[in-house]
Amino acid sequence: MSDVPPEAVLWNLIRGTLGTKALGIAADLRVADALAAGPRSVAEVADESGADPDTLQRILRALASDGVFAENEPGVFSNTEASELLRADNPYRWREFAHLFGETFYAAVGALDPRSTDIAFRRAQGTDFWSWLATEPEERSIFDQAMEGGQAESADKLAALEWREDETVVDVGGGTGALLRELLARRPELRGIVFDLPEADRSEAGLGDRIAFVSGSFFERVPEGDAYVLSKILHDWDDEPAAAILRTIRSTAPDEARLLVLDSVVPPGNDPAGVKWLDLLMLVLQRGRERTESDWRALLDSAGFRVDQIDDGLIQARCR
Ligand SMILES: C[S@@+](CC[C@H](N)C(=O)[O-])C[C@H]1O[C@@H](n2cnc3c(N)ncnc32)[C@H](O)[C@@H]1O
Repeated sequence: MSDVPPEAVLWNLIRGTLGTKALGIAADLRVADALAAGPRSVAEVADESGADPDTLQRILRALASDGVFAENEPGVFSNTEASELLRADNPYRWREFAHLFGETFYAAVGALDPRSTDIAFRRAQGTDFWSWLATEPEERSIFDQAMEGGQAESADKLAALEWREDETVVDVGGGTGALLRELLARRPELRGIVFDLPEADRSEAGLGDRIAFVSGSFFERVPEGDAYVLSKILHDWDDEPAAAILRTIRSTAPDEARLLVLDSVVPPGNDPAGVKWLDLLMLVLQRGRERTESDWRALLDSAGFRVDQIDDGLIQARCR
């Protein structure tokens, strides 16, 4: 049982949109970076960022009431431990995530309709998420940067597995290639191929000579390799398209190839779990879904893979 009074439980959910928007605005105005050297007047920060001082003061006051920024004296704000996370150099990319939730995903969440199986993002923007990103290079770049957050931990998990000399790892939907870069820094004996849509933000020079970038769609083909990584890919898709991606891999993968899925496992019960909320985001963006352990087993089995091990964050499978 939670100690939070039931009225507060409801109020915290009801005001959620306001918090999401306020945080997104503070992130976009780079307030945390503006306060990096110490407390400043909101008038100064507003002037620098082109914001209306009254609007910004009220946004920062509300956020400060939840511990993001602090109002030290009337109209003067400083960073807190939480707002520091919004700075540009944060490796978990909180600023980019705050932008995505407060701006990019915002209208789509508002378009979620429980009576319809239409994709909310498509209803809000008139096209699917990936096509929309392809027409918005700045958004695509922010999305790709956000996806780089936490890749060091994912690379640690992969590097801890057993690898043969010279295996080629194909990171399917690998975005900027950050995960493979981190993995090869820990396992220099491997080679890598980043496979993604041509518009994915990437710096091929930064990938080094052991990693190649190949562009294309995973519904049509994937490059051949010894191990296939799917990091935050299958949760983007409902079961049918997710199985289609897996079948594309299965049709190219040598029989002894491994499949390494970096995705969450929805826990049973009512305990707080961020993945239960991310499941709603996946629903909104493209009717994707987070999966329970039995969902994962059924999906992988249906597409020709045998599960070796399922842990939250890493599912290991092989071709059947
Ligand atoms: C949620 S992001 C995950 C990126 C990266 N794997 C990571 O762990 O951060 C999903 C990725 O799938 C890519 N993607 C979407 N549709 C694709 C397609 N049809 N073929 C190849 N990649 C695709 C996107 O461009 C994006 O980089």
